[in-house]
Amino acid sequence: MNVFYILPLIFLYLVSCTSRSELTVAVGGTSAEVSYWYKLIKRFEEEEGIEVRIIRQASDSDLRRQHLILSMISHLEDPDVFFMDVAWVGQFIYSGWLEPINLDTKPFFKGSIEVAYREGELYAVPVNIDCGLLYYRSDLLEEYGCDVPETWEELLECSLKAVDEDIYGFVWQGAQYEGLVCTFLEFSYSAGGDLGNINSEENLKALTFMRDIIRIHKISPPDTYVSMKEEEVRLIFQRGLALFERNWPYAYKLHKAENSPVKDKFGVAPLPRFEGGRRASCLGGWYIGLSRFSDRKEEGKKLIRFITSYEVQKDLVEGLGWNSPRIDVMEELGEKYAHLKVVREACNYAVARPPVPYYAQISYIIQKYVNGVLAGLIKPEEALSRMDKEIRELKEYYE
Ligand code: GLC
Repeated sequence: MNVFYILPLIFLYLVSCTSRSELTVAVGGTSAEVSYWYKLIKRFEEEEGIEVRIIRQASDSDLRRQHLILSMISHLEDPDVFFMDVAWVGQFIYSGWLEPINLDTKPFFKGSIEVAYREGELYAVPVNIDCGLLYYRSDLLEEYGCDVPETWEELLECSLKAVDEDIYGFVWQGAQYEGLVCTFLEFSYSAGGDLGNINSEENLKALTFMRDIIRIHKISPPDTYVSMKEEEVRLIFQRGLALFERNWPYAYKLHKAENSPVKDKFGVAPLPRFEGGRRASCLGGWYIGLSRFSDRKEEGKKLIRFITSYEVQKDLVEGLGWNSPRIDVMEELGEKYAHLKVVREACNYAVARPPVPYYAQISYIIQKYVNGVLAGLIKPEEALSRMDKEIRELKEYYE
């Protein structure tokens, strides 16, 4: 064949390889959540006649952020749509990586939607609101003669009885990742401290307690600071190997599943406080947004409207046990599921992570030092003073 015939064919082939025909969406989370997204997105494809390619992400918030940032800084058109942790949605908005979205925000709780605005434009829509919770084994509390703990001191005391019986007292997120910032924030605020003034007596009390329940009292697994993230913690509790668990609302539905060994033996409550302190629950959750570099913006907006619609939000509450940011959905389902009442109560004590565009760096400093203390590599006093210094320097640099 003459080269003049072949060249245009090669050109057409290359063009067809690079131009995309489908919308891409990045989804992550637990395996149950990822499977759910597949189901919902299939429904969207059928209803809208739009082809969607799913890009699977890890379940860890930091890994999901790093994966997306790579596409953003390279201005890649993939993924078009993705989910963002409330902890870093601000960074994405301020970095100019998101396309404004036109959507009626009246049905959403005001607090959940406010963080998604910048200069009057809406850049992301909440999909799920998380607040930290305490799961407990109701059968064992009765056996040990303990009440649902109001304070961390009570939780420790009862946990020691569990350790005598060869199960863990308390499992929680202590690995070096975003989840550790949440647990540190909860211990800190519930001791009367905060993340604004890091080097305080209250934070010292909180951090020392976190270390001691692993290293001295041994009510938490020795590898808490190495491997404990949401799913590791959930599985230990679900297999019946722990008395107490700190986790998010999603764990409820999985603990209740037909094949769950604890399905009729557990309860859920707001997290305890320290004696003389106050209750605190880390405010978490996920938002959906559209990349500014997307080449399928109209289709992307349709997907966002679909996922945040009344029907799909209802589905996410019923299917995954999530806490919806939609007022209409929660009015309808909030009373139907026992755990959602507790979630509402816990969310009254919600504390947000610092909503600054450079939050990821603050998070990294906190993760590094808190984890170092749990690992026994640095003393709590020293860790707090270094954390304080590094965070101050960071603030001075940015503000
Ligand atoms: C949950 C929360 C999120 C938090 C993360 C930490 O996914 O919704 O806000 O940052 O857990 O692991």
